Amino acid sequence: MKTRMTELLGIKHPIALACMGSVSTAPLVIGVTNAGGLGLLNPLNFTADMLREEIRKIRDSVGNKPFGVGLIPHMPRYPELVKVILEEKVPVVNHGMGIPAELLNQIKPLGLIGIPSVGRVQQAIRAERDGAAAVMVAGHEAGGDCGPIGSAVLIPQVAESVKIPVIAAGGFCDGRGLAGALALGADGIYMGTRFAATQESPVPLSVKQRICNAKAEEARVTNMAKHFPLRAIVGKKARLYPGWQYMPWEMIRGVIISARLTKVSPLEYWRMALAARREYGTPLHFLSLQDKGQKGLVQGDVDRGFFPAGQVVGRLHDIPTCQEVIERTVAQAEEIIKSMQATAD
Ligand SMILES: Cc1cc2nc3c(=O)[nH]c(=O)nc-3n(C[C@H](O)[C@H](O)[C@H](O)COP(=O)(O)O)c2cc1C
Repeated sequence: MKTRMTELLGIKHPIALACMGSVSTAPLVIGVTNAGGLGLLNPLNFTADMLREEIRKIRDSVGNKPFGVGLIPHMPRYPELVKVILEEKVPVVNHGMGIPAELLNQIKPLGLIGIPSVGRVQQAIRAERDGAAAVMVAGHEAGGDCGPIGSAVLIPQVAESVKIPVIAAGGFCDGRGLAGALALGADGIYMGTRFAATQESPVPLSVKQRICNAKAEEARVTNMAKHFPLRAIVGKKARLYPGWQYMPWEMIRGVIISARLTKVSPLEYWRMALAARREYGTPLHFLSLQDKGQKGLVQGDVDRGFFPAGQVVGRLHDIPTCQEVIERTVAQAEEIIKSMQATAD
């Protein structure tokens, strides 16, 4: 299937892996890339050396197929990670919360492709104006950080507002979704929750099974941070609070856990969190989520922890390989498009 997304990126299928913290690691990126999609690595809590190592591991497995790294501005060690991406000439640079024009100016002369993730029409227009090659757009149904507008409204709005390719997310898991996204004006899809429940995904089996058994309404927008709606499945025994003031000790635990993961001292991590709040408005309350987030997504304790997941959980019932997901998605989309053409004739 050829679209503007496949032509821009030089990939076989118009499908990308969403950039998911603790999930979009080398095995999943390799699985999606080798199956003809675009794999995106998420270097959350990585040091510069870890990122370089992961990039080289991916290169060794995918050869010259393109893949990308996704950043969000409040990632610890953001400037060091940018430096590695530029030095290693990673073909695609994804960026949450829009893409800074300064970064685009650095990657373009190297021939790299800059694609921001956005949740609003205005952000997409700004990204195009700043020189982004395409935009990734996630609707309200999406897992994790989700915008206010549903995919069926947001995707055509963005497609009608920008000329660059649009890659749609939020509720897609199969060929019905791919055909639907193309009909809404997108040039391809990216999927998070679907790929989190694949054989190559590093998430514990208990999380994958919970995804397969959950109802759509269980993936709800939590009230954990006021201006950062986060769609997740929350365990029966995991109590979440609307602000860190309610549970200051969870905040302290969060700083200690995050510092350990990022390989810095707790004091240094606290300074980084304060800087992120000053520069990007990242709520400090995010720190108090680390403990339950780790319990759920990394340790697999689905009762005491939580993990980001989209409403699409209601449509997922198996744990296939990335190749199976991509092949059956494209085959089903082609079938649907053909039958719709026949209906129109
Ligand atoms: C387990 C999980 C972790 C995620 N982590 C991040 C993250 O660290 N940063 C980010 O910008 N988005 C994150 N997301 C959101 C995805 O990038 C993407 O927008 C979303 O998964 C698309 O919707 P879908 O889940 O319906 O496919 C995460 C999503 C999931 C399911």
